[in-house]
Amino acid sequence: MCGIVGFTGARSAAPILLKGLRQLEYRGYDSAGIAVLAGGAIDVEKVSGRIAKLCEKTRDGAAVPGVTGIGHTRWATHGAPTDTNAHPHLSNDGRFAIVHNGIIENYLALREELIADGYVFESETDTETIVHLLEFNYDGDIKAAVMKTAARLEGSYALGILCTDAPDTLYAVRESSPLILGIGVGENYFASDVTALVAHTKNVIYLEDGEMAELTSASIRVYDCTGQEIKKPVSRVTWNVEAAEKGGYEHFMLKEIMEQPGAVKAALVPRLHEGRIRLDDFELSAEELRGINKIIITACGSAYYAGCSGRYAIERLCRIPVQAELASELRYGDPMVDEHTLVLVISQSGETADTIAALKECRSRGAKIIGIVNVVGSTIAKLADHTLYTWAGPEIAVATTKGYTTQLAVLYLLAIYIAERLGRLDEKDYAALIKKLMQLPKLLQETIDMNYLLPTVASRYASQSLFFIGRNTDYAVALEGALKMKEISYLHAESYAAGELKHGTIALIDEGQPVIAVCCNEALADKTLSNIVEVKARGAKVLALAFRGNTRIVSQADDVIFIPRIDTIFSAILAVVPLQLLAYYAAKEKGCDIDKPKNLAKSVTVE
Ligand code: G6P
Repeated sequence: MCGIVGFTGARSAAPILLKGLRQLEYRGYDSAGIAVLAGGAIDVEKVSGRIAKLCEKTRDGAAVPGVTGIGHTRWATHGAPTDTNAHPHLSNDGRFAIVHNGIIENYLALREELIADGYVFESETDTETIVHLLEFNYDGDIKAAVMKTAARLEGSYALGILCTDAPDTLYAVRESSPLILGIGVGENYFASDVTALVAHTKNVIYLEDGEMAELTSASIRVYDCTGQEIKKPVSRVTWNVEAAEKGGYEHFMLKEIMEQPGAVKAALVPRLHEGRIRLDDFELSAEELRGINKIIITACGSAYYAGCSGRYAIERLCRIPVQAELASELRYGDPMVDEHTLVLVISQSGETADTIAALKECRSRGAKIIGIVNVVGSTIAKLADHTLYTWAGPEIAVATTKGYTTQLAVLYLLAIYIAERLGRLDEKDYAALIKKLMQLPKLLQETIDMNYLLPTVASRYASQSLFFIGRNTDYAVALEGALKMKEISYLHAESYAAGELKHGTIALIDEGQPVIAVCCNEALADKTLSNIVEVKARGAKVLALAFRGNTRIVSQADDVIFIPRIDTIFSAILAVVPLQLLAYYAAKEKGCDIDKPKNLAKSVTVE
């Protein structure tokens, strides 16, 4: 949550900061602000609301001169999204300005201390304590003041700092919130995400927890928490700036839905060599896997629902018990995890606070951790024993689509890999599964092509409240379908295991109630068909999702969306696509802000 950027060079900083903030707006969009050093003083411009408003206020940055500055886009935690609570925050003496992504857990104690020392607070934020603490700790050595201040902070933070005594320098510190340095020619940058840097440079340095950076136009120096300078490796970003732009689509979400065939291909192809799965730079030996008696998948939001789907594939192929657990529950749940547990931690951003905490909890109990992560160099990727990147490329829309399907693709891959290693698949079945896996990108494309009529269907079903039902793998899809609908269209949507309808929910079915029935699990399609008949008998309007050629469903449902036929193990990855589109078109018809739904943020770095 929240995005920060910094620039120092010879060019005017404000337009560059605003451009960077636009790329980070997915991280929060309650307020925005910039601070630029000019003529020995810091000029702060901030507004509640979107970055567009800040651009208007500053005439796209033209009204804010200076070549060194920092910027912030906020997802409010402490204090309402007002102008005053917007970052950057200034020290009382006007010497320091800071932007912050994260949460300072001991801010109340620090605030009381600082107030007792005579510091005056303007905002309700936790962040403002940091800037006053900087002033308090400053005795002419900025680096020392930053380090002393960081040592007093508990919680998570990525900080960008300006000081009038070093007018061409940026300071940046990281603890449990992402921060990346960009290396330019005669200019340097920092940002919460590489998407804000790729327009300028592909050479980046990933800061680690406890590290601090000092950036001028000519140099970048990184120090550890003892003040010792350290040499950091330079990484190269592998995708282009176009990947983080809309490319002619009205919304990032639609673009990202359309990118799914390519994204899934990118997740699978590098791991398949001459018909065999090879994991990136690690292997799981048969001996090691035989020592595993349980797999736990943990994640939040859609990543958790990807885990719910993947669970079926792993259990069916590997015959190992799999539990999908919400990270926010697992972290406090005294989980039954030990060295015989394999934990799969799924996260698009790799920065979700609850998921990181669940990972640490499982690690402390001796489990082996595999991360399934999209963002390269993110916290979860670093903490896991091994990481399988999903290679979805940048995902900008807050509601995930290609992030989710690539997670599923990696889970399928892992399921087949583990099953083969454990001797649960003979060569023939292994080869057949790999063949089917490799057809997924093509079938995803067909699924997208087959659903061009969805805008019309969506307008018939986008009512105040919808039910999504399904069994087994279809239930997992229903969970994600309902979440997508809620997130972006703000329609009330509930998902139910179809067999549970009779145990309460059916009481809610009245004349005209929309029910979306996922019927792509062939073994259970007839059972769900019975549920369709039951809700129809009570007046429901049913939109079914089924394999092409399922004629029986046409006679029962009011409308049917078809997807290509595929082995049930993999059906979720196709079935979710029409539900993503359904939510998209429902939200579009309602005029919602599809890429930036209200109250949400893409990267939830607070508990
Ligand atoms: C937020 C996003 C969801 C996402 C969840 C987990 O709630 O809005 O789309 O599924 O976080 O995020 P992660 O980055 O860990 O996959």
